[in-house]
Amino acid sequence: MTRTLIRHARLATLQGPEAWGWIEDGALLVEGDTLRWVGDDASLPPDPQADREIDLQGALLTPGLVDCHTHLVYGGHRAAEFELRLQGASYEQIARAGGGIRSTVAATRAAGDDELYRLALPRARALMAEGVTTLEIKSGYGLSEAHEARCLAVARRLGTELPLTVRTTSLGAHALPPEFEGRTDDYIDAVCRWLPGQQAAGLVDAVDAFCEGIGFSVAQTQRVFDAARALGLPVKLHAEQLSDLGGTALAARYQALSCDHLEHLSAEGIAAMKAAGTVAVLLPGAYYFLRETKLPPVTALREAGVPIALASDHNPGSSPALSLLLMLNMACTFFRLTPEEAFRGVTVNGARALGLHDRGTLVPGQRADLAVWDVDHPRELAYRFGHNPCRRVFVAGVEIPR
Ligand code: NIG
Ligand code: FE
Repeated sequence: MTRTLIRHARLATLQGPEAWGWIEDGALLVEGDTLRWVGDDASLPPDPQADREIDLQGALLTPGLVDCHTHLVYGGHRAAEFELRLQGASYEQIARAGGGIRSTVAATRAAGDDELYRLALPRARALMAEGVTTLEIKSGYGLSEAHEARCLAVARRLGTELPLTVRTTSLGAHALPPEFEGRTDDYIDAVCRWLPGQQAAGLVDAVDAFCEGIGFSVAQTQRVFDAARALGLPVKLHAEQLSDLGGTALAARYQALSCDHLEHLSAEGIAAMKAAGTVAVLLPGAYYFLRETKLPPVTALREAGVPIALASDHNPGSSPALSLLLMLNMACTFFRLTPEEAFRGVTVNGARALGLHDRGTLVPGQRADLAVWDVDHPRELAYRFGHNPCRRVFVAGVEIPR
């Protein structure tokens, strides 16, 4: 196994009592795909037996970033819908009139597998260019058994062909497809029936739903969760984005990995998440792009000790964002997260929102997914926007050519 010694890095280990888990002049020994030793450069073991050495000359080294909520695989775009919203139509009005998610479903169904892959590839690469090494991708624009499976397979293909971990989430319960108009419960039955096949084909790591007035009710969401539980699949939920339906409390009863959006989250929802260990995934891109005015209850989440993650929510309707660094900035400016909270949200807590405990900090035993930045301090990553200081990326110990 190759042993790489990385020396003279400023380390944000995100571990231990120190803010940022800071080590001013740090070193790190990578063995194969795993971190073996992390600490002060001055206290390196006398003979680390490295095959090669990299001197970072004071550059910042952090865990690779985790984008834990995206809808990356889809056809078409919704720039015309953006114009409609600028003229006064609301996101919900457009959805109820058959546009919105349904228009992306039509474009996705019309695109071939290779076309979907070709469209998704530059989106994944744009995120990776900013240090993303783990990416969640949801289905939810196919909305039939075959089209959902196709979208999940495209997501899997991105994970095998790119130096990147892709986690797939089945989101059949995203919107009602036109052929099920007036038969929402029948559609939920269908979504539940598709899950075993998706699982047998190795296409799904978690199950999600859109619990909302323009999505599915709490009772319908529960049926999807029951089907997931029967297969041993973890659940996540788009919850309390536009209204407070109480989806979060349901998700907590199913030990959801995460509840996402959460602008309208109640005190009861926060208590339920805390008790269940569910991560709160905040999505400032959607908040911004839909011009929401209701802020997620960050102070209450913080006081309750609910772990907070951030994600791009990349999708064509509510967040066509392809920058996780921009989300850091927005989470600070809009949601008043501290830069450190925001950064933990795209590393350790993002990983946790995917049920991954082997990444997100710089600690011996963790996966060697690493990002090197041309900044002095990680707070700068949340401070600038429209600027990418990512210089080098390592995935499972291997440097990715840039
Ligand atoms: O996370 N809320 C539902 N799903 C997406 C938006 C999907 C769309 O508008 O295409 C979201 O915001
Ligand atoms: Fe989403």
